[in-house]
Amino acid sequence: MSWRHRARGRGWWLSALAGLAAVAAWPLAAQQWARLEADGLHDPANPGLAQLQQPAEALMPLPRDTAGNLVNWVQAIDSGAIAPRTQLFPETQVRLRETDIIIARYGSMPAVKFPHRQHTLWLDCANCHDHLFRPQVGANRFSMTAILNGEQCGLCHGAVAFPLTECNRCHSVSNAALRAQARAAAPSAPSAPSAPSVPSAASATGMGGR
Ligand code: HEC
Ligand code: HEC
Ligand code: HEC
Repeated sequence: MSWRHRARGRGWWLSALAGLAAVAAWPLAAQQWARLEADGLHDPANPGLAQLQQPAEALMPLPRDTAGNLVNWVQAIDSGAIAPRTQLFPETQVRLRETDIIIARYGSMPAVKFPHRQHTLWLDCANCHDHLFRPQVGANRFSMTAILNGEQCGLCHGAVAFPLTECNRCHSVSNAALRAQARAAAPSAPSAPSAPSVPSAASATGMGGR
């Protein structure tokens, strides 16, 4: 390899580095939201487009996420970065619920924790109860296949809430920890199976808790 060649090679790296520095200086995130005229939804020829705010401008100040539309909406509302109106009509009763529900314990994946609080920050009970889920622990037959087909949790997740590729946000509770909890709660029954409350989830996987 000649000296000239090496110099040119080094020049290439230097300009690449300079390019990287420029990209870092320019807000990286701005490139990650498609501009309205390029999003495949808006008509780029419509002059009215100029009136609309670009997604990058609206979303960049909000807490970041690595998936979906790149905003962590739960953090956004918890931190006060956004404060959406809770109701249109003064007579509407705003209801929060704080219970967490464990679904699908002792399967091949960590168990699923469904948190009511993070949902009722955005949604009313009637968005889910009773047409989607019966409001009783263990009364629903969940299925990951149905979810991937856009039913149950998948009606929203992957559509208007974080996508289904984020397995560990739902499958967030270690089965070992649940087993230890169950043992601690029932010390007098050492040989009892440890999955008493959610039979459908355990049986769906063919891996009964033990
Ligand atoms: C995003 C959907 C969703 C919303 C919104 C929602 N729930 Fe639930 N709810 C669930 C799911 C899922 C379960 C778990 C059912 C199961 O284990 O089979 C559940 C379980 C329940 C249960 C039984 C377990 C418990 O927490 O005691 C009650 C009661 C309940 N919901 C009441 C409410 C009320 C009241 C609201 C509104 C303040 C509400 N839910 C909003 C999805 C929702
Ligand atoms: C009616 C719509 C809807 C349904 C049905 C729904 N979710 Fe959600 N979920 C949301 C929204 C909206 C958020 C908040 C925005 C986000 O995190 O993307 C959310 C957030 C979450 C979070 C994140 C909480 C956090 O602290 O970041 C979890 C976990 C979750 N959902 C699990 C589930 C599970 C499990 C089911 C099914 C049992 C389910 N959801 C059904 C709309 C829904
Ligand atoms: C929106 C929440 C949500 C997300 C995201 C999610 N799941 Fe699930 N998953 C569930 C629920 C609820 C069940 C319970 C269904 C059941 O009882 O089988 C479940 C059940 C399962 C099961 C059967 C039970 C077990 O542990 O063996 C598997 C396997 C599974 N999910 C794999 C995945 C994988 C892999 C991903 C990511 C690609 C994923 N899930 C993402 C909610 C979710």
